[in-house]
Amino acid sequence: MWLPCRCAAKYVAASFSRGVSASFLHALRRNRSSWNAAAFMPESSGFEGVSGRDALHDYSVSHSESFWAAVARQRLSWIRPFDVVQDCDLSQGRISWFEGGKLNVSVNCLDRHVHTCPERVALIWERDEQGSEVRYTYKELLEMTCRLGNLLRRQGVKKGDCVTIYMPTCPLAVASMLACARIGAAHNVVFAGFSAEALAERIRDAQSSTVITVNQGVRGGKITELKRTVDAAVRSCPSVQQVFVAMRTEKQVEMTDRDFVLEEEMLKEDDVLFLLYTSGSTGKPKGLVHTQAGYLLYAAFTHRYVFGYHDGDVFGCVADIGWITGHSYTVYGPLANGGTTVLFESTPVYPDPGRYWEMVERLRINQFYGAPTAIRLLIKYGDQWVKKYDRSSLTTLGSVGEPINTEAWEWYNRVVGEGRCPVVDTWWQTETGGICIAPKPSEPDAEIVPGMAMRPFFGIKPVLMDTEGKVLTSNNTSGALCMAQPWPGMARTIHNNHQRFIETYFQPYPGYFFTGDGAYRSEKGYYQITGRLDDVINVSGHRIGTAEIEDVVNQCPAVAESAVIGYSHSIKGQGVYAFVVLKKGVDIQEADISKQLNNMVSEKIAKYACPEFVQFAKRLPKTRSGKIMRRVLRKVVECDLDSLGDLSTLDDPAAVQEIIKGHEKLL
Ligand code: PRX
Repeated sequence: MWLPCRCAAKYVAASFSRGVSASFLHALRRNRSSWNAAAFMPESSGFEGVSGRDALHDYSVSHSESFWAAVARQRLSWIRPFDVVQDCDLSQGRISWFEGGKLNVSVNCLDRHVHTCPERVALIWERDEQGSEVRYTYKELLEMTCRLGNLLRRQGVKKGDCVTIYMPTCPLAVASMLACARIGAAHNVVFAGFSAEALAERIRDAQSSTVITVNQGVRGGKITELKRTVDAAVRSCPSVQQVFVAMRTEKQVEMTDRDFVLEEEMLKEDDVLFLLYTSGSTGKPKGLVHTQAGYLLYAAFTHRYVFGYHDGDVFGCVADIGWITGHSYTVYGPLANGGTTVLFESTPVYPDPGRYWEMVERLRINQFYGAPTAIRLLIKYGDQWVKKYDRSSLTTLGSVGEPINTEAWEWYNRVVGEGRCPVVDTWWQTETGGICIAPKPSEPDAEIVPGMAMRPFFGIKPVLMDTEGKVLTSNNTSGALCMAQPWPGMARTIHNNHQRFIETYFQPYPGYFFTGDGAYRSEKGYYQITGRLDDVINVSGHRIGTAEIEDVVNQCPAVAESAVIGYSHSIKGQGVYAFVVLKKGVDIQEADISKQLNNMVSEKIAKYACPEFVQFAKRLPKTRSGKIMRRVLRKVVECDLDSLGDLSTLDDPAAVQEIIKGHEKLL
């Protein structure tokens, strides 16, 4: 039904991501102070010595250019300031104002007011039905406009195209006009009292590819069949490729392939900021969807408070922007806070293992944020590479992506931070958008326990679940880590697969967000992450599903089946170990197949996902129902043969012995 859009929570000023460049917002902010002035008073705004209406009028005609230039600068938000106030020649019919300047009408009409007074009513829709008026705030009108603009773009409407609007006076008509303005399309509003023929003539002349209309109009208590009129008109308009039909009444009208219900199409448009693919426990990576306001707020807020970021600081997050850490703490968090952020293109050991610390000295980095895998690597090269450089600028050291072992934590704290910079072990995920558990913020002298993420961030309510799905209430306990409340930074869906989103995160523990991680809660109530509970492993801080690697390995023509697991690796945190069963009759050297598998994995996924070990086996240990017993494989690889656990469901216990022997041989 035709109702005002009430999804205000989803609103964000810049929600029209594809249409609004950052410079819009910049221009907006630059001009905000003048817009905020109680009222535009030309006398007090650069027209010195001019007072009174008549004098001002004289000035406006005698100094026309400077008058209009001042007014334009004050009343409008410019993306780019104009160079020439006017270049008109009435004798030639040449009229040109504000040359070189650039602005967006829609941003001028909406965004800047939403910044200062989002709840102000922008439209009062006095409907035909007396006494049933509906009010729309600026925020709502902007959201409607953004959705419509996104929709038009998705449907191929480009800058310079012309959209015909054949609608009665209503909010969606206004939003349609503003949406066109937003994306740089021209609108061609045709009075809804015009006939099909008059409409067709205007559509043809404008060469419009898109028409926006309503199913029926309501005027003076009478229904008009506007969609039917459009149908008749477009029969003689070959340029029209699509017609959007808003539902002013409940009456269904005939729809063709070319017709779309406007409100339905608009609902598909969200304020998506980005997709970021990450691994799950099945072979197919999931495109997690983050939207704008919630994500940005959370990234900025956590950046400010977890790291104690202050204006003027230089923030050094060394993660690649291809991972969520790079998104939230190299790009969005620092920039939203007006900070200075370092984009690190290199590696921790290039040209030598002092790279990070030389950079800290040279760029005067205040907060350094990196991964334990790099710390472990650097420990091996010795303290001298760190001590060589001045690190007095550092105030906070962050760790992310995987558990940080005590040795690495101590070294980071003692050697890098000289014991004066708090080390914050930050736990979060692609799904969470930003840091959820970290030692900071905390009371100034509160303790920080090595290797513990410790304290939930503002608005985060972690719970631990037992195997039956009950909340564990006591301390000094371990369980599945879930979140009991939503927070703004959460991913909104999995691209093209909302069902998978629900099944993965919300069905395992109904009413809770399931992280996929296990955690321990200490006596004092601090959290420590113990690792993944699913078949996702973490290699050098890079998350990868074992099923993803198996999918590739199984594509090798010589391979019958495989099982991939993670094992403890002193530098990488976890390494990849593949068990491979070859097809009968395969007559290729195992070493050649290993090489081939490595090539395939690095080609189809990435180098870091390549198996460090490939163990060839005649068969894999399976349950009677045919499920590979990964638990057993993990224990074998960890050389923990005393705790292989219950083997009674094994199909053939001899398979385990073969695997153990094969593993011993490989070492
Ligand atoms: O298992 C946890 C581990 O990394 C997973 C999330 O990976 P990804 O989505 O790629 O995001 C990594 C960067 C935020 C988590 O489910 N993880 C992340 N941070 C930590 C961690 N494990 C232990 N301690 C951490 N601080």
